[in-house]
Amino acid sequence: MTIQARPNMAGGANPDVAGVRPAARLRGRPGLPGDKSISHRALLLAALADGTSAIHGAGDGADVRTTAHLVERLGATVERGRSDGRRIDYRVASPGIAGLHEADGILDCGNSGTTTRLVAGILAGLPGYHVLDGDDSLRRRPLARIIEPLREMGADVHARRSNSLLPMTLVGHTPLRAIEHRTAVPSAQVKSAILLAGLRADGLTIVRESVATRDHTERMLRARGVAVHRAGLEGGAVAISVEGGQALRAVGETVPADPSAAAFWLVAGAIHPDAELTLADVGLNPTRRAIVDLLRRMGAVIEERAAAVADPEMGEPLADLVVRSSELRAIDVSPVEVAQAIDEIPILCLAATQARGTSTIRGAGELRAKESDRIAGILAGLLALGADISVDGDDISIHGPTALIGAPTDSRSDHRLAMTFAIAGLIASGATTISDPGCASISYPGFFAVLEGVRA
Ligand code: S3P
Repeated sequence: MTIQARPNMAGGANPDVAGVRPAARLRGRPGLPGDKSISHRALLLAALADGTSAIHGAGDGADVRTTAHLVERLGATVERGRSDGRRIDYRVASPGIAGLHEADGILDCGNSGTTTRLVAGILAGLPGYHVLDGDDSLRRRPLARIIEPLREMGADVHARRSNSLLPMTLVGHTPLRAIEHRTAVPSAQVKSAILLAGLRADGLTIVRESVATRDHTERMLRARGVAVHRAGLEGGAVAISVEGGQALRAVGETVPADPSAAAFWLVAGAIHPDAELTLADVGLNPTRRAIVDLLRRMGAVIEERAAAVADPEMGEPLADLVVRSSELRAIDVSPVEVAQAIDEIPILCLAATQARGTSTIRGAGELRAKESDRIAGILAGLLALGADISVDGDDISIHGPTALIGAPTDSRSDHRLAMTFAIAGLIASGATTISDPGCASISYPGFFAVLEGVRA
């Protein structure tokens, strides 16, 4: 891989382009970052707990650093410990929820949707005047989904474009009104924002969702002594509830390796003709493991072994995963499965280009609301590489297998697209280039070095 400073082929501001050549073999143990979703929550819940929390192996990507910085601005003391470039230890000392205060200026959420939405849930119940902003990508992402329920709870929230886009102001106060809210789109960020605001409400806050989204907030609140209830409803729907006024206990915890980062290597190993890769201590929470099960349904050879590290106290299941070269067949991915593997759909599309038959991914519209319009980005990137892919409304169809041919691809400064096209470059003939490869460090710092390391 080469990173060259030359005029950006995508025409944007970042002049860097990465080149990836095909690999003869893939072997080894790709190092993974700590889970991004859990790392954000570990920092935010540490800020809400009175005392000192220890976080081991958090992801050291840009998004999690953004959250750490905001936690500091709100009045907690954040000590950065050892980092291996991908994972870092933190110690967070906080006066607790009642001791936090408004920041002395704008809270910059950078590129991070999770930071924006979860922090908004906390600020709604924190007396003071708060202003949130972010980068150009974040300023295009929908916020009405959190603004409406937070307003209903009594927070005074305003945002650009009729209360739908950053920048956003919140005047927080306590107690908030407890509400019952049905999410319009399955979203762990929205659910978490409402539950965090619910901690500052005067009764029982209930969130209903049609598909159970990642449940880290619920598990992590319980591990900190907060009673959170979950009721399974008809057709896979769930209702999550929390009583306001509960205090959080400071804890020590180890963050599992990120399954969404592991997904890139699971697909690389499955689609490469001579591969064996081992992924250590991967978080396999039932609400996050859908990508493993979808790939297996396609015929991927993925072995699950007991992990060396276990953190039963935190309630997050872990496993080591071994993936080997596989013969893949096409898959039909339902809208519910899209919601369960929302961050892994780009790399799953790459897997589908190597599967026999026509794969369909139905109801993927929510991908347009991510760091970029991921449907447009996948379509353009995989077409450039010679894949047989088409989009009809919110449905994606991919016919395979196709021999990919190296070509320039545009990451649109979206980390998951950059990494998807880089993995494609390992099996495409000739050279594949990726615009703004540095964006991979949003979730996976050192990704391109790891990619070079597995090229046996
Ligand atoms: C996340 C939830 C998902 C996911 C994002 C992380 C979280 O977003 O795409 O990368 O940590 O709660 P949505 O809630 O918008 O689906």
